Amino acid sequence: MVLERDQNIPVVDLSDPDQELVARAVVKASEEWGVFQVVNHGIPTEVIQRLKNVGRQFFELSEEEKKAVAKPAVDSREGYKRRYELNLETKTGTVDQLFHNIWPPMSVNYKFWPKNPLDYREANEEYTGHVKLLSEKIMEWLSKGLGLRGEAIKEVTGSEYMIIVNYYHPCPLADLIEGLDAHTDISGITLIVPNEIPGLQVFKDDHWFDLESIASAVIVIIGDQILRLSNGRYKSVLHKTIVDKERTRMSWPVLVMPTSDMVVGPFPEITGHNDPPKFKPISYKDYIYRKLRHLSFADHDS
Ligand code: SIN
Ligand code: FE2
Repeated sequence: MVLERDQNIPVVDLSDPDQELVARAVVKASEEWGVFQVVNHGIPTEVIQRLKNVGRQFFELSEEEKKAVAKPAVDSREGYKRRYELNLETKTGTVDQLFHNIWPPMSVNYKFWPKNPLDYREANEEYTGHVKLLSEKIMEWLSKGLGLRGEAIKEVTGSEYMIIVNYYHPCPLADLIEGLDAHTDISGITLIVPNEIPGLQVFKDDHWFDLESIASAVIVIIGDQILRLSNGRYKSVLHKTIVDKERTRMSWPVLVMPTSDMVVGPFPEITGHNDPPKFKPISYKDYIYRKLRHLSFADHDS
């Protein structure tokens, strides 16, 4: 596998007055790559900057202070946790993560939102409003790209929003290790803002590509739920991260997901004799159970 520089990962300018063209570009990027960047996306730069500032301030607190929002040992996806320690055998760097739900309000548990810095909550709430509008717009284009009503995808996989803050410690042995292993996302769609340090790599046609992120852009990743809903027409891109030798990389993915009881399978309207369903419908919680245990979907999907 050859590592290539990013020359082709699509970039879509959402402010183009020809919105039909924008919609087609988003659909094409999702069909061919399952990842793209959007610019002029309507989220003010200051809002993104504030989100990054408060996240960075939280991660720069002492370990003791960060433990105030520690992930409980069981039964919670939310909270702060060291995901990996530096380990040359497993080839992992030191990676810390904070997870918390941001939408809808009834799913939010402020116990997992840092109290320090003081404006953490305000900055995250402000970003939530904007990122929700952006993801809904993209889901609308993708729904129409399948010939469906604009709300079709959102109604299935646009219900719950969770933010992850990734903190990749710099490491002099960066060449020997990775940050997050290769994976596809459990979400329907994931919207990411990274800091200025590169590190995200995406896989296509037997190659790993470095994603060179454009300042102020939002990176969009198609996750497994939209792959399944679209019967494989939209790709859920395989991706991983690397770490820097000297500088701390951070990223803020927002995962847009179904509720846990929602059954997700290919839209019946788009399958038939010519395009038989490639995936069996399965509830999101069963899907997560299988994915997290690395169980094969082979006996579920045809
Ligand atoms: C991920 O959520 O898969 C990592 C995103 C990133 O750090 O760029
Ligand atoms: Fe991911």
